[in-house]
This record gives sequence, C-alpha cells and structure tokens, in this order.
Amino acid sequence: MNLPDQIIAQDGYSRQESAFLFEQAKKFFPGGVNSPVRAFKSVVGPPIFVKKGIGCRIIDEDDNRYIDFCGSWGPLILGHCHPSVTQSIMDAVQLGPTFGTPTRYGLELGKFVTEHNPYIDMMRFVSSGTEAVMSAVRLARGYTNKSKILKFEGCYHGHVDSLLVKAGSGLVTFGESSSAGIPESLSAQTIVIPLNNFEALEEVFSKYAQELACTIIEPVPANNGLLLQNSEFLHRIRDLCTEHGVLLIFDEVISGYRVGYHGAAGYYNIHPDLITYGKIIGGGMPVGAYGGKKEIMNMISPEGPVYQAGTLSGNPVAMAAGLATLKELAKPGFYEELSDKTSYFVKNIADYASERSYEFSIPSIGSIFWVNFSLDKIQSADQIDPNSMEKFKILHFEMLKNGVYFGPSGYEVGFISSAHSYDDLDKAIDIICKCLDKVFC
Ligand SMILES: Cc1ncc(COP(=O)(O)O)c(C=O)c1O
Repeated sequence: MNLPDQIIAQDGYSRQESAFLFEQAKKFFPGGVNSPVRAFKSVVGPPIFVKKGIGCRIIDEDDNRYIDFCGSWGPLILGHCHPSVTQSIMDAVQLGPTFGTPTRYGLELGKFVTEHNPYIDMMRFVSSGTEAVMSAVRLARGYTNKSKILKFEGCYHGHVDSLLVKAGSGLVTFGESSSAGIPESLSAQTIVIPLNNFEALEEVFSKYAQELACTIIEPVPANNGLLLQNSEFLHRIRDLCTEHGVLLIFDEVISGYRVGYHGAAGYYNIHPDLITYGKIIGGGMPVGAYGGKKEIMNMISPEGPVYQAGTLSGNPVAMAAGLATLKELAKPGFYEELSDKTSYFVKNIADYASERSYEFSIPSIGSIFWVNFSLDKIQSADQIDPNSMEKFKILHFEMLKNGVYFGPSGYEVGFISSAHSYDDLDKAIDIICKCLDKVFC
C-alpha cells in the first residue's frame, strides 16, 4: 500500500485543524516546529497539534483522542497530568517559578536522588539532557586532562557538537559531523565505533587509550531502534575504561528511572563514573542532571576548575515535578507492575504477528518497546533496513486514524506509562493488530 505524503482526512478521521495550525507555524518556526522529528517528515500528513493530555491519552486540536505511547518522548512515566505531579507544580509555581538562588525544592530532589542511588555521590541539575551530556563530557575532559571521546554509532546524546558525529568508513573511525555547522577539528576528537562490536572496542583502546577522556554510551540504546546490547559488551567497556583511566559515562537520559529505579546501571550491575539524566527526572518539566563520584564531581565550578552554570538550573517548579515523580517511582512494586504490563502488551502483538507469519517483532526492556519490521535481533544501527520505514509509515497512519499515537518515526521507541490500564492496552493491542493487517495485506 502506498500513501501520499499529505492526507488530512480519511474514513471519518480529520486533521484539518492541525493542518491549519501547522501552515501558520511554518511562518514562524523552521519547518513549522521547535524540534525536527515533530514535523512528521517520516510519516503521513501534518503533525497533530495536541491540546490536552490525561492519563494515557492525548487529545488533538481536531478533538481526536489517542492512546499515547510516546509520552512526550519518555518523561511521562506516570502518564499525563498525574495528580500528585500536577499539584506539586501548582504549589511551587504559586511561590514563584524561579529565583536564581538555591531553593529547598532543589535540595530535596538532589537529596532524594543521591540517597536512593548507589551510583551517584554528588550531582548537578541542568535544564535538558543535551546540557547534562555536554557538561559531563567537559567534566571528563577536565578531570582526565585528555581530549578524545569514544562513542557508538546509533547512540544519540542530544545535539552536543562533538557528539553529533557519525562513523566514517572503516571499523574504527574518527567521526564525521552529522550536522552542518560543526568544525572538523571538533568531530576529529570523537571516535565512533559500531555497537556490540568487541573487535572495534579492543582496537580503540589499544590505539587511543592514552588520549581518551571518556567513553559515552546509551547503555540501553533507544534512539535508533532499540539496540539491546549483550551485557558482556557493556562490562567489557567498563573493564577497559578502568584499566586505562578513561571515564565511563552512561547516558541514561532515556533509560534512567525507566528500565528500573536504578536505570541501566542497576539493570546491568555496572558502576559508571558519571551518569547523565533527563526526561523522567524532571517529571515533564525541562530538567537534566549529571552526577557521579564525589572526587570527579568536585572538579565542577565553584569547587573546581570545570565551568558549568545555568540561569534556570534547579528551578523550584521543575524540581517539585521531579520530586513528586520520583516519589511515585520509589513505591514498592512500581517497576514490576509496569514491566508486567509491557510484557503483556508486546507479547500479545508479537503472538498475533507470528501467527500470521508477519515479518515483524517487538523487542522491549522495562517499559520501552520498539516496532521492528524484521525478525532479526537488531543490535547495531547498520542492521536496520531503511526500506522497512515505509511499513512503519503505513502503520503510523492507520494507528492515528484508529486512535493510537506512536512517535512519528520508525526509528523511535515507544513507552508504556503507569497510566495505561490493561483495558487501555487491550484496546491498543486490538487496534495495532488490525493496523498490522493493513501493513502486510
Ligand atoms: C540518550 C539521550 N541523551 C540525550 C538526549 C538529549 O536530551 P534533550 O532532548 O533533553 O536535550 C536525549 C534526547 O532524546 C537522549 O535520548
């Protein structure tokens, strides 16, 4: 089935109002958006303009209701407008949204995070995941007095200049920038190798360990499909970093508080030197954080020589939202229940697809899942067939028409929240399976 790029209405479903708003937005924002994937370039029709969220549902400007599996790209692990998060935000905002001073809210969240996290002695709040990563990399360079960085093809770490790089040709390569505007001298400091590839990993450390400040990885790579790594690979990275005095940074902007309360570090039982957080830690407000061993964190200004600052860092409204969220997550049984729901969801869809011999699988971890139009176990970026994205395009359009929202790209993962009930999941499973029939008909 081929779909034209611009369908606004079909089968009683209409995106007329969203289309109208999008046309206006194009005058004011490049591509009509404030972040590229929102433009729906890889799927059909104009982006939906969302006016409201409640529980696991969002409602768009045309009054279409969708069961939401994007959750604002991950932060909303409790769903939309969770009562205690909303109340905490309202309480804080009434006292004043920002002062540019330390506040009790910031202290409480910092205390709660570090006291319940065996991997972090000290931390700092910033305002986005990108800022957290950028600061952690600078800190690693300042601490080690070395300048090169090792990253993995298929991992996304925000729009940090030296990490917006892709592999060149060859197993171990210095990065080529994947965005205009990044000087070659910067991308040349970043080495990029494939995920799950022991040979390339050993080669980098044997050739460049003396120059490497840090290795940064999404321990649960979830920005280019869901590229679940063999645990031995992650452990080998830890060992090599320790052996050669290279800091290991786990970028847990997605996996932190998502694959379990202790994130991927806890899941794989690996102690990184630094961890970056974002998304969930801010409960839906703009928050990022980085933290780790005290000795390293004390290198940050004003205690040490590595400069990092922020006007709105640790602002009380965001801190209140984060604290209310983490308190819910720390309740006994939270992650078990969420994981059970996710397993139920993916198993039902996978069984349906497999009974019909569809070339389709749905890998998952914790409450993250990915729709993979292949039966192969995908562990590195180059294994994904770009042609399979045409199938995702059809699936996405059919799902929207029928009331299920996934992020608008087949490379993106989906998230289950505690607000998804089994009843909601049953409804979604039914819709998704029928839409798969359309894809494979
Ligand atoms: C693993 C990872 N790191 C960093 C970032 C950047 O976070 P932000 O978009 O808050 O700047 C993201 C964003 O999706 C991410 O998934």
